[in-house]
Amino acid sequence: MKSSALSQLGQRTEAPPISWLMQLTLDHPKLISLAAGFTDNESLPVDETRELLNEILGSPKSRRSALQYGTTAGDPHLRHLTADRLWKLDAAAEKRFSAAADEVAERARNVRHARRSHPVAFSEIYAPERMLITSGSQQLLYMLTECLCDPGDIVLLEDPTYFVYLGIVQSHGFCCRGIRLEADGIDLSHLEQRLEALRRRGELKRVKMLYLVSYSQNPTGITTSFVKKVAALAMLKRFERAAGHPIYLLEDAAYRELRFAGQDVASALAAERADERVIYTGTYSKPFATGVRVGFGILPKPLLTVVLRVKANHDFGTSNLLQQLLRRALASCRYESHLTELHRRYARKAATMTRAMREHFPANVRWQEPDGGLYVWARCPKPVKTGVHSRLFQSALRHEVLYVPGEFCYAADPTRRKPNGEMRISFGGATEADIRTGIARLGATLRELL
Ligand SMILES: Cc1ncc(COP(=O)(O)O)c(C=O)c1O
Repeated sequence: MKSSALSQLGQRTEAPPISWLMQLTLDHPKLISLAAGFTDNESLPVDETRELLNEILGSPKSRRSALQYGTTAGDPHLRHLTADRLWKLDAAAEKRFSAAADEVAERARNVRHARRSHPVAFSEIYAPERMLITSGSQQLLYMLTECLCDPGDIVLLEDPTYFVYLGIVQSHGFCCRGIRLEADGIDLSHLEQRLEALRRRGELKRVKMLYLVSYSQNPTGITTSFVKKVAALAMLKRFERAAGHPIYLLEDAAYRELRFAGQDVASALAAERADERVIYTGTYSKPFATGVRVGFGILPKPLLTVVLRVKANHDFGTSNLLQQLLRRALASCRYESHLTELHRRYARKAATMTRAMREHFPANVRWQEPDGGLYVWARCPKPVKTGVHSRLFQSALRHEVLYVPGEFCYAADPTRRKPNGEMRISFGGATEADIRTGIARLGATLRELL
């Protein structure tokens, strides 16, 4: 008889692809990695951080408290600043949306105009009391999923999605159903088909949430429109009676602040009854410094209570010193000016990457110009495969360039075969020179195969 001292979770948890990709980079020192989701190294806010730490540790008012434990929910000032910032972002985006919707309604002479959002309730929805600060938004994604799902439960998610999230799902024994993506977010008719099929089989009670990476999605770069978020929320609500419990919309906005072209989109928090069903997670990793690992979330009250209990068991609070750092960065103009610099840099790096792709990739490899985030999602023509065991991946390694095989980003969904012809290439961490060389090498590899 086989026995193990490990728990079911310990036994089930597979090695995350990210560790394997990192090991490959270590084993091949000359490798150009376009795989890692790292942010731009050169623009990390070193001077700002030094100044902020000097201020914190130089002030008799803050130096000891910053080195002391904080609270489980997080620093009240940071929560206030974060909630306020989010409110302002959503208010501005919602105003633009409503103005556009009013214009459409007016043009169609529609008296019942198309406004679906709820600006009056804004202040309650964005109350700091509904917010918590976490050790990266990854910790919050983990705790939320753990608080909502039991082994065998089903998470609905974009197909493809953020592959590290798939690790959480896999290790807990949760099941997945992928929802196809369109240029402006999930395919709503596919979501409806999925929910309907689960209802017919009496499996809706296993569905607890829909997970969306709604801004410059990792891996595809797609941003979900506000209209789709509102419609998805309404659809989930419709199926709740059959499910017998709330079905949440978990909006992961990790890349929201990295948009360098076009307009911001309002979050689902701006939709009607968002206070009951929308979970919003965000992070300061991408827009400030990945090493600081401070994330945040706004949650429906009953769920917040439970997540705070779990967080108290995890770590009873995110690093207080790092929260103080961010609080000061936000309160001064340093955060904002750093963000402006980041947008300029990422716009340039993205343009360098796509220019090199146009020059070196065969014409039948397709991608969308990114307007934010860190990634380009490239689709290869049939019969080219991009998986770990494919000739392309192995040949790319020989040419000393690394990408994320698209298959990693597809959940283990038994209702379809995993696509295997895409790659995620990142312009975040590599220098511009490495981006040019890396894409030229990848292009040469593709041309050999095609
Ligand atoms: C889509 C998405 N969500 C969440 C995270 C977690 O980021 P962090 O824990 O640094 O906030 C990442 C990190 O790459 C991500 O890509």
